[in-house]
Amino acid sequence: MKDDVNSPRKWEADYERKTDGWDLGGPTPVFKRLALRASRELILGRMIVLGAGRGHDAREFARNGFQVIAVDFASHAVQEMHRLADPDAPVEILQNDIFALPETLDQSFDYVLEYTCFCAIDPKRRAEYADVVTRLLKPNGIYIDLAFPLDGRKGGPPFAVTETEILNLFQGRGFRLVSREEPAESISPRRNAEALFIFQKLN
Ligand SMILES: C[S@@+](CC[C@H](N)C(=O)[O-])C[C@H]1O[C@@H](n2cnc3c(N)ncnc32)[C@H](O)[C@@H]1O
Repeated sequence: MKDDVNSPRKWEADYERKTDGWDLGGPTPVFKRLALRASRELILGRMIVLGAGRGHDAREFARNGFQVIAVDFASHAVQEMHRLADPDAPVEILQNDIFALPETLDQSFDYVLEYTCFCAIDPKRRAEYADVVTRLLKPNGIYIDLAFPLDGRKGGPPFAVTETEILNLFQGRGFRLVSREEPAESISPRRNAEALFIFQKLN
């Protein structure tokens, strides 16, 4: 169980052993830019952050006026989100498996955000993951995916992702690719291994 990425125990153990090298200690730089731009252009809305970890990105979007729910199934991550909560940027914290979210959340989000969650799940569950994103978004909702690692590595987590797979998963479910960029702000160990995809669900 302790190495099974489908189990919260694997992730709890990483947080406890401090083998949580994915954690940037603050919001992801490109998301700071996106959140600020959205807040300036007043295109705010309701967002869910999948596999939110300590919630740095969730709080960043909340600080910019988004209404945010952060989901993680590891109790350590959830405790950390409560500890780091910012009263000026409230985030709803939900301890839940993303594959077992309540149906009441279906079609209730303007935005779904992911960073290093898609690469953390069992790669065999990627189609199921794309179904979850599709279910959660309202019609015309936006999926923000900072896809990592695009470097063809073997093994994981993080398990390698490819642009072709991401396009097939989401365009195959009726999403339109709005933009793709390699963010200038990527931290140096991840530069050239990540890309920001923004998709819109069309129905
Ligand atoms: C690599 S960490 C990334 C955390 C955060 N996104 C970040 O960038 O710091 C992956 C996170 O996803 C969570 N996770 C993995 N599979 C999950 C699932 N099926 N449901 C909910 N959370 C999950 C883990 O507990 C862990 O906190």
